[in-house]
Amino acid sequence: MLINDLDTPALLIDLDLMEANIAALFAQLRPSGVRVRPHLKTAKCPEVARILAAAGARGFCVAKLGEAEVMAAAGIDDLLITSEIAGAPKLRRLAALHAAHPQVRVVVDSVVGARLLDAAVSGGPTPLEVLIELDVGQGRCGTAPGEPARALARAIAGLPHLRLVGLQGYEGHLQHIADHRERDARVDAAMAQLTATADLLRADGHAIDQVTTGGTGTCARCAAHPGVTEVQPGSFVFLDRAYRDALGPQGGYANALTVRSTVISRPVAGRAVLDAGLKALPTDMGNAEPVGLPGVSYRPGGDEHGILSWADDADPGLAIGDRVALIPGHIDTTVNLFDAYHAQRGGAVVEIWPIAARGRSQ
Ligand SMILES: Cc1ncc(COP(=O)(O)O)c(C=O)c1O
Repeated sequence: MLINDLDTPALLIDLDLMEANIAALFAQLRPSGVRVRPHLKTAKCPEVARILAAAGARGFCVAKLGEAEVMAAAGIDDLLITSEIAGAPKLRRLAALHAAHPQVRVVVDSVVGARLLDAAVSGGPTPLEVLIELDVGQGRCGTAPGEPARALARAIAGLPHLRLVGLQGYEGHLQHIADHRERDARVDAAMAQLTATADLLRADGHAIDQVTTGGTGTCARCAAHPGVTEVQPGSFVFLDRAYRDALGPQGGYANALTVRSTVISRPVAGRAVLDAGLKALPTDMGNAEPVGLPGVSYRPGGDEHGILSWADDADPGLAIGDRVALIPGHIDTTVNLFDAYHAQRGGAVVEIWPIAARGRSQ
């Protein structure tokens, strides 16, 4: 099938660009010796995970228990769940996942949360391996570095069904800082907190073997810090407009994922209407960008419609039925809206991969 034969809106991977992004990340990080555990919250797809594993990934992160269940069912079970888990239905599912896949690790940031986990897995085959999540400045989850983390570690050590194995400190608030000197300086400060807390816990007798951090915008800098054992980038596989604008060409990654759409209306001069609106291209990190149409901008025209507009001198000459490719503003929320990737090389669709963890937000 050629890409022009695809019905739209459709999610299209440029395989050459995706493979180059993956090669670039592993080439950059290999000299550091730090383990790369890519985050699958972005791609949500076992086929993409297998390509990452072949490139050198050692284990994967997932954001949600539902994503972990999908990956484990696909035979990918060296997993870290990077969000806290609470609530009876989820704790029951976690216990079942742990019984079948005891190597799945989870983060925890409170004594209350740790006790819930401990009770949930009490019938399990082995203790559940947990990482303390630290707040290294993002202001989301995470216990404070230093003494509060030490107190939590001591509490976890007293719980019979948990085993403390590491620390997670994700600096999500720093990923998109365009000024790389500022980004680096703030990453350094965050990593100092993370690694100092790991040392504090080791001094208390805890065997901290996993100190995990970093996203696409920061992982190279994180990996340069002694004491960081692992990085967990996700967006580099495809990139999006927000990341491209923040990192620029020095980032080393290209936009490998587009949404293909069709012009369905040309109601007036200066406007073309596409069949891709908010249900295909979320705007939580800005609007999508049309590919190869200089001077043309995209905005959503509602749930199902997208509007292209341009100045008189930039008329792209679009006709009803023409195809337009768009770079998503934010890939994670975009991917979550589609059932499958169409992977193309040289204009031919060579693979169709179900986005098996799409919508698995529980
Ligand atoms: C905990 C955690 N780690 C890693 C990542 C991956 O970051 P990125 O997609 O920016 O590479 C995310 C993304 O939101 C995250 O929440």
